[in-house]
Amino acid sequence: MKYNPDDCRKKTAVDSFSREIFYNPPLAGSLQEAGLIALLNRTYEVYECIPEQAVSFLEDELGIPAAVILRVIRDHGMCTMRKKPQYVIRLCMGQVCGRRNMALILQSILEVLGIGHEGGIDPEKTYSSADGKFRVEPTGCVGACGKSPVITVNDELYTSVTPERVRKLILLLI
Ligand code: FES
Repeated sequence: MKYNPDDCRKKTAVDSFSREIFYNPPLAGSLQEAGLIALLNRTYEVYECIPEQAVSFLEDELGIPAAVILRVIRDHGMCTMRKKPQYVIRLCMGQVCGRRNMALILQSILEVLGIGHEGGIDPEKTYSSADGKFRVEPTGCVGACGKSPVITVNDELYTSVTPERVRKLILLLI
């Protein structure tokens, strides 16, 4: 079934309840988590899992990091996790690498994978290819600052990367 963000966004009492919580900063973190759980439950009712796109949507819409959303999914054992990608590409966003062309490197990755970025490129965000084969996400310093910028592909380290080098690397994986 094709994922439709409206299924977890509109026309539900759950949604208005959750929005009220999320856009009301004085409310406690536990209430925010309750709102997130309500949205995830609604999504699960429709899809019988939490699709990758739903995690990205909730991350964009609510400004909650994907890692937090995934932790809530896991902690509440509510459903199947998102489909495991074959390749996880991590962009080092540590103090050194984060200042070195990471937006251009990410842009190169997204273009070669055909991942849209209408709202602009955001190296702090997680992206996935439409077929779920690739996930691109930020990571902290991986301890190779002397050879920055660096990325990892399934935990294999690639140092001194450039947009062109990354493009060639990914073409070999598609
Ligand atoms: S900041 Fe990237 S390896 Fe340290």
